[in-house]
Amino acid sequence: MNFLKILTFVLYNTYDIMKKFFLPILGLFMLFSKSSFSQKKPETDKKWWKEAVVYQIYPRSFKDSNGDGIGDLKGIISKLDYLKSLGITAVWINPFYSSPNDDNGYDISDYRGIMKEFGTKEDFDVLLKGLHDRNIKMVMDLVVNHSSDEHDWFKQSRSSRTSPYRDYYHWWPAENGKPPYRYSLFDINHDAWKYDSTTNAYYLHYFSTKQPDLNWENPKLRQEIYDVMKFWAEKGIDGFRLDAFQFASKDTTFPVWPDGYEKDFIKYIAMGPHLHQYLKEMNEQVFSKYNVMSVAEGAGNTMEDAHNLVDADRKELNMAYAFEGVDIAKPNGYSLLHFKNVFTKWDSAFANNGWLSIFLANHDQARMVTRFGNDSPAFRDVSSKMLTTFIMTMRGTPYYYNGDELAMTNIRFDNVEDYKDMPLKNEYVYLQKTGGDLKKFLEEQKISSRDNGRTPFQWNSSVNAGFSMGEPWLKVNPNFANINAAAQEKDANSPLNYFRKVVAFRKNNPVLVYGKYTLLDKANPDVYAYTREMDGKKLLIVLNFSKNDASTKLDLKLGKLLLNNYPSSTSVKSDKIILRPYEARIYEVK
Ligand code: NOJ
Ligand code: CA
Repeated sequence: MNFLKILTFVLYNTYDIMKKFFLPILGLFMLFSKSSFSQKKPETDKKWWKEAVVYQIYPRSFKDSNGDGIGDLKGIISKLDYLKSLGITAVWINPFYSSPNDDNGYDISDYRGIMKEFGTKEDFDVLLKGLHDRNIKMVMDLVVNHSSDEHDWFKQSRSSRTSPYRDYYHWWPAENGKPPYRYSLFDINHDAWKYDSTTNAYYLHYFSTKQPDLNWENPKLRQEIYDVMKFWAEKGIDGFRLDAFQFASKDTTFPVWPDGYEKDFIKYIAMGPHLHQYLKEMNEQVFSKYNVMSVAEGAGNTMEDAHNLVDADRKELNMAYAFEGVDIAKPNGYSLLHFKNVFTKWDSAFANNGWLSIFLANHDQARMVTRFGNDSPAFRDVSSKMLTTFIMTMRGTPYYYNGDELAMTNIRFDNVEDYKDMPLKNEYVYLQKTGGDLKKFLEEQKISSRDNGRTPFQWNSSVNAGFSMGEPWLKVNPNFANINAAAQEKDANSPLNYFRKVVAFRKNNPVLVYGKYTLLDKANPDVYAYTREMDGKKLLIVLNFSKNDASTKLDLKLGKLLLNNYPSSTSVKSDKIILRPYEARIYEVK
């Protein structure tokens, strides 16, 4: 196998590689004719999770209550009224289980415990009740492709070959030679097998060495996970986001990959042989018994995979969370034509069955306005509002990342020491060892590093942006003096108040949830125009993605202008809509 090729491939952007795990093969969709989906009208199958507006909270960076520089559950509790004021109806909170924090909580050492930096079980109860009292649902992250190496299961598993927990993980006895190469996303050498001398064997870790992969082929392990899920469902949580679950099922004979796998190694490890079987079992044992929603991270390798994960008739998961949309933005920009094409393709594939998530950022992405809008002072607010309008007017459940409602931007660190993200640091060390281009790497991280989206929430212009009285775990973006929630509360035209307006607009217009989507003026390189229609009601959404005036000519009879991201509106010329830079408008169509 050609290590050099793989390493060149991964050299500069670890996250791009991660995201490629979920890239669908477009061509296959064409083969997948409509007739193979059962024909259902989405609006006849109403569900709370389709109507939800999900706000994602990164707890480590949201609000610190005790001055240790780390956001916590009490911090979120202190901001419950803020959450309510946004109008959002659900929160997805990144992992807050016990964890040694090799990967900020995505390495869990006790699935029933609360991370000590984040608080206690009592804090969790107060938080859940506080959310429910305000009619906000709680979606938890479920990280069960892997655990922490500090989980008791792994400690037992590694202690002896005869441990009852041995088969909770994947082990390869060293006397059989080196195991066939497997790619690891976060390993310092991208090698997913780690030798462990205690039992003279290798264990598998698709992520870091401290995130050993759980063995889903073992029914005992599966039962343990369903029990954990029931434990939280019994407490009353409302949903699970399944982290990296597409990698859970493995061909445990670990065949040698054929030559050339490095061009598309993802297809060899995602959507393993029994994945659907396990999801059906999980549905039978957990989802069907509680009113909880389920969202997959990723959407498989093909459009057919995406459907099979969430087709309601198959009784597996509820919604897909596909990465092709967020993958469009590259360090040197993106094309709107590509953007429109991708979002339109996914919409039509899910028009009759299955359900999508709509998002432009999360804790693994850099900031929405930096990547998809324009974060220069002149255009930051307006372009951010335009993107917000997009997210809230597409079919699918919107997932909105905390801080984007303020148009928070990338921090663009100059020094590697400022970053805290483990895979970034590993990649840096790797490049150092192999003589890679460190300068280029650091330049690219200014746009793509996950830490850009993890800097502390900017509450006000006081010390540390009001996030913490102590030194924050990750530096606060120095622009907090201008960009912060307190200042935006006072400004009727702020991104924050615009976000509230658009959320309310979506909630008052079910056509935006269930209505048919139609792309207009497809070849326009600057303007994204589409209609949403249902039950005789039709809305037009027009979005200028460029920093110049742009126009679109549409054959529609326009009614009232219902929403605009500019404070004062301009009139529509007879046959053309002329939009100012990054302008967003929603019209009624007669
Ligand atoms: C995807 C999560 O979103 C990411 O933050 C994490 O590092 C990996 N899965 C591993 O759990
Ligand atoms: Ca704290």
